[in-house]
Amino acid sequence: MVAEWKTRQQVPQYVFDAIRALPRDSHPMVMLSVALLSLQKDSKFAAFYNSGKFNKMTAWEYVYEDASDLVARIAVIAAFIYNLKYRGDKQTDIDPKLDMGANFAHMIGQSEQYKDVARMYFILHSDHESGNVSAHTTHLVHSALSDPYYAYSAGLNGLAGPLHGLANQEVLDWTLKFQEKYCKGVEPTKELVTKALWDTLNAGQVVPGYGHAVLRKTDPRYMSQREFCLKTPGLKDDPLFKLVAMIFETAPGVLTEHGKAKNPWPNVDAQSGVIQWYYGLREWDFYTVLFGVGRALGCMANITWDRGLGYAIERPKSVTTPMLEKWAAEGGRKLA
Ligand SMILES: CC(C)(COP(=O)(O)OP(=O)(O)OC[C@H]1O[C@@H](n2cnc3c(N)ncnc32)[C@H](O)[C@@H]1OP(=O)(O)O)[C@@H](O)C(=O)NCCC(=O)NCCS
Repeated sequence: MVAEWKTRQQVPQYVFDAIRALPRDSHPMVMLSVALLSLQKDSKFAAFYNSGKFNKMTAWEYVYEDASDLVARIAVIAAFIYNLKYRGDKQTDIDPKLDMGANFAHMIGQSEQYKDVARMYFILHSDHESGNVSAHTTHLVHSALSDPYYAYSAGLNGLAGPLHGLANQEVLDWTLKFQEKYCKGVEPTKELVTKALWDTLNAGQVVPGYGHAVLRKTDPRYMSQREFCLKTPGLKDDPLFKLVAMIFETAPGVLTEHGKAKNPWPNVDAQSGVIQWYYGLREWDFYTVLFGVGRALGCMANITWDRGLGYAIERPKSVTTPMLEKWAAEGGRKLA
């Protein structure tokens, strides 16, 4: 598989041109989504559909083709975006000897050690249960027989939401603001962390990196990254990691007392930014792009299966105007 992806890795120049045409201060997730959408013109699935020989029984083979091209290229595109936005457009060629994570590290000028970080990050962020916003959106859009580029570009737009993949960016933002506001010249303490958590909750905001729509315990991906930190000399003593560990000891109790979140435990996003920060990737608005690179692995596998199994177009339950009026009269969903 790795050898096959190598043959698909070259990104057409028009993709880079499309990214360059965007304002440089566009969010990197916009750049990634636009880049993937621009690849649509070369979709093998779309070409098969338009050939007049479209056949439901073999359609999955063309999804597989696009999915493999997309997965092979997405880390290369991410590296281009990183270099364009944060390294003064210092671009580096692909090293064809390297695997996906190692090549990404190489292309953004990162250390030997970061190669393992990228590998871990991409694998941990590949899809895990398909019901999350990005995986589900990809599935939904592809169910209309939109090709994998349309589908994953849409999935990325969902991933860019702060309640979903963007939470990793929010976690870093929250943690650094905490340091700035509460720890001027003093060591963080559990009391200070508790106060900051309540300040966030009392302001009507969510504690980023905590809670989950499905999990009801600490996210195993959080624990894998925590273990990585604990066994990495330097990282385990890093002040930011120690602070994140202190939040892990404090936030579940606060969220339980607050009484709303069904799951007061940390999710994958609570830990991931700290590792990137430690290795020098400090532009945290890029973190969701890393998430998007990893998630492509799962989402592309999912929609290949969708076509293989012949899934129908997806449609949620419809509601009528009288139903909406009734719910509005009842006050809608109670948020307080
Ligand atoms: C992940 C998340 C969106 C799941 O949402 P959900 O399925 O609606 O979760 P719950 O059923 O537990 O939510 C019940 C209530 O608790 C709140 N809640 C959940 N997690 C919370 C958190 N971390 N901080 C504060 N409140 C939280 C919800 O906002 C909701 O409040 P509401 O009724 O006023 O809308 C939610 O936990 C969240 O916003 N977490 C923070 C963002 C984050 O880390 N996202 C990445 C997820 S992998």
